[in-house]
Amino acid sequence: MKKNNPYDQRYASKRYYWGKKPSVMCDRVIEIIRPSSDFRPKLLDLGCGEGRNAVYFAKHDFKVVGLDLSLIGLEKTRRYAEEVGVHVETIHADIVNYQLSDSYDVIFSTGTLHYLPPKVRSQHFQNYKDCTSPNGINAFSVFVTKPFIRRAPDAEENAYPYKSGELMSYYWDWEILYSAEEIFDCMSSGVPHKHAVNRIIARKVL
Ligand SMILES: C[S@@+](CC[C@H](N)C(=O)[O-])C[C@H]1O[C@@H](n2cnc3c(N)ncnc32)[C@H](O)[C@@H]1O
Repeated sequence: MKKNNPYDQRYASKRYYWGKKPSVMCDRVIEIIRPSSDFRPKLLDLGCGEGRNAVYFAKHDFKVVGLDLSLIGLEKTRRYAEEVGVHVETIHADIVNYQLSDSYDVIFSTGTLHYLPPKVRSQHFQNYKDCTSPNGINAFSVFVTKPFIRRAPDAEENAYPYKSGELMSYYWDWEILYSAEEIFDCMSSGVPHKHAVNRIIARKVL
C-alpha cells in the first residue's frame, strides 16, 4: 500500500501519539451493546490508529478488528493488546477503496472518516450499513467545517471535513440513539486551534 500517510511518522516513536485513554464514544457504545457470557459482539474500528479504542473494546469483551492505513499504528495496536492480555485482529487497508464483506455488530470510527472524499461517501456508508448486523450500531465521530473556525494549521490535503449535519443524513433510515456537535481546543502541531466534530450513534432497526 503506497499511499503516503503522515501518521507513520507520528506513530514512529515509542510513545502513544493519541495516548491510551479511549474516546468518550467507547463508553456510550458499551452502554448500548453489552457483551455477555453468550454474546461477544464483533466490532470493527475504522482507522484504529495505535489502538486506544480497539484495545478498550477488547478489554470489555468485544471481538475487535482494527483497520488502518498505517502499518506502524497496527503493530502498536497489536502490541498494546498483547500487553494487556487481549487480542485485536488487524487489517491493513485504505478506507477509500476498501469494501467490507463481513458483518459486524458495531462499526466504530473516530477522527478518520474525513479521509473519504465526499463523492464516495454515500456508497461507503451504504456498505457500512449493509455490513451491520440487525440491531447493530454504527458509532462515528467526524470533523466538520464551521465558518467561524479556521482550518487547522496541520490540515492535510486529502482530508475533507464534513458539513455539519451531513453524517446524520446517511442514517435517515436508522434509529438515531445519540447525536451531538462539539467544539474543542487542540494543540497538534504546537499551534493552538479549534476543531468541531459531529458524533452519531445509529441503530439498524429491521
Ligand atoms: C486522527 S487519527 C485517529 C486514530 C484513532 N481513531 C484514534 O481516535 O485514536 C486518524 C487515523 O486514520 C488513519 N488513516 C488515514 N488515512 C486513512 C485511510 N485512507 N485508510 C485507513 N486509515 C487511514 C491514520 O493512519 C490514523 O491512524
